[in-house]
Amino acid sequence: MTATGAASAAYIVAALLFILSLAGLSKHETAKAGNAYGMAGMVIALVATIGLAFDHGISGTGTVLLVVAVVIGAAIGLWRAAKVEMTGMPELIALLHSFVGLAAVLVGWNGYLTVEADPDNQTEVSSDLLGIHSGEVAIGVFIGAVTFTGSIVAFLKLSARIKSNPLVLPGKNWLNLGALAAFVALTVVFVVEPNLPVLAVLTVIALALGWHLVASIGGGDMPVVVSMLNSYSGWAAAAAGFLLGNDLLIITGALVGASGAYLSYIMCKAMNRSFISVIAGGFGNEGSAAASDVDYGEHVEISAEDTAELLRDATSVVITPGYGMAVAQAQSAVAELTRKLTERGVDVRFGIHPVAGRLPGHMNVLLAEAKVPYDVVLEMDEINDDLAATSVVLVIGANDTVNPSAAEDPASPIAGMPVLRVWEAERVVVFKRSMNTGYAGVQNPLFFRDNSRMLFGDARERVEDILRAL
Ligand code: TAP
Repeated sequence: MTATGAASAAYIVAALLFILSLAGLSKHETAKAGNAYGMAGMVIALVATIGLAFDHGISGTGTVLLVVAVVIGAAIGLWRAAKVEMTGMPELIALLHSFVGLAAVLVGWNGYLTVEADPDNQTEVSSDLLGIHSGEVAIGVFIGAVTFTGSIVAFLKLSARIKSNPLVLPGKNWLNLGALAAFVALTVVFVVEPNLPVLAVLTVIALALGWHLVASIGGGDMPVVVSMLNSYSGWAAAAAGFLLGNDLLIITGALVGASGAYLSYIMCKAMNRSFISVIAGGFGNEGSAAASDVDYGEHVEISAEDTAELLRDATSVVITPGYGMAVAQAQSAVAELTRKLTERGVDVRFGIHPVAGRLPGHMNVLLAEAKVPYDVVLEMDEINDDLAATSVVLVIGANDTVNPSAAEDPASPIAGMPVLRVWEAERVVVFKRSMNTGYAGVQNPLFFRDNSRMLFGDARERVEDILRAL
């Protein structure tokens, strides 16, 4: 078998492993196996690609550069993955998407410099197909540049380095449409007559569009943005695959692109958001004011001991965790509380909002890590109708996902987003450190309801206090 044949066979095996990986990652029970398939596929893909480079007669300097790049990249990847906290995962993912986007831009520019800008390199065949190549360059650079700056803004917003409020420039939708029209026109010009200034202007417009699209989206819609950028990074990789003539990159890119787009669609449905509006940078959503200046009255505090008393008398308890549980690393204490209450005959269940935390499945991962049985962990739609008949709801570090204004106030920036209707329960105890707003920056009237009590402090410490008092 020739080296090219062996590489093609290896690519097919790697592509199958990537498909198995996606299938595995869709369920808790098979997620670990899914990860293992993905890693095996990536190792096979890397070895096959390096083997192919040798077969194509890579130079001595090229080999050294390749090895150095793989070693440095692998070392940084291992270091970051080992160091990252669960709460920092979304911003790390956003940063990784930005690398894919940047890589696609560089591959595109390299394609231009080595083919269109260098007539010596244009073979008979490539000169026949030059128009297609130029089109691939323009599209690859465009998708890559949008992904690059969009992901950087997502990283900055998720890591709270910039405010998560939407940027509202005058005529923002026209700006986006104008950028899109300019891209189409410049691509046509570039295909007809490839030249550096056109590619440079196209790159700058795409970089600005990526920045603007994500900057225009408000905090509450960031989950969809992250999965949408995931999808864009897949298409950027596929575009790079076309330019490099690498089938595996095309397949892998298309897998990531399609699964990311589907995840964005599911999340939009779960959050009652328009898919088109989100991918068009908040199109049709002119940004309503946060209702933080409304006077909801006084909140009432409760102590850990009194909360323990409430729990002792309860027949049913629902725990709705949120981002604060991840920050406090309270999941083990919460799991211990669940065991204690269950032993006492209390019916304890969890209600998980689809965007609780900062990445899809965030709460499920934490609860699985703390060995909370899967059968008491229910999705929002499965538990919402039972909340009215629940004695006590413990809201542990959740805020936006239990905000009644999403359901009751059409002027709220998060209006229409389905939430856990915890306020319908007999009693609600909210664990948080202050009266600060959640990720979307919206005040929460739940804290001021007659049946709500605020238990201030770090969620893990407060749950441990309750455990001692029980
Ligand atoms: P958030 O609305 O973000 O609120 C978290 C709450 O936890 C805050 O109000 C904070 O209040 C409290 N908190 C923080 N650290 C704490 C600690 N150590 N102990 C106790 N409480 C603590 O949480 P949520 O309900 O999970 O909603 C998620 C939000 O993130 C949504 O707006 C969602 O759209 C957005 N988002 C989600 C994702 C995904 S995919 N899940 C991705 C990006 C963005 P204090 O500061 O007063 O303690």
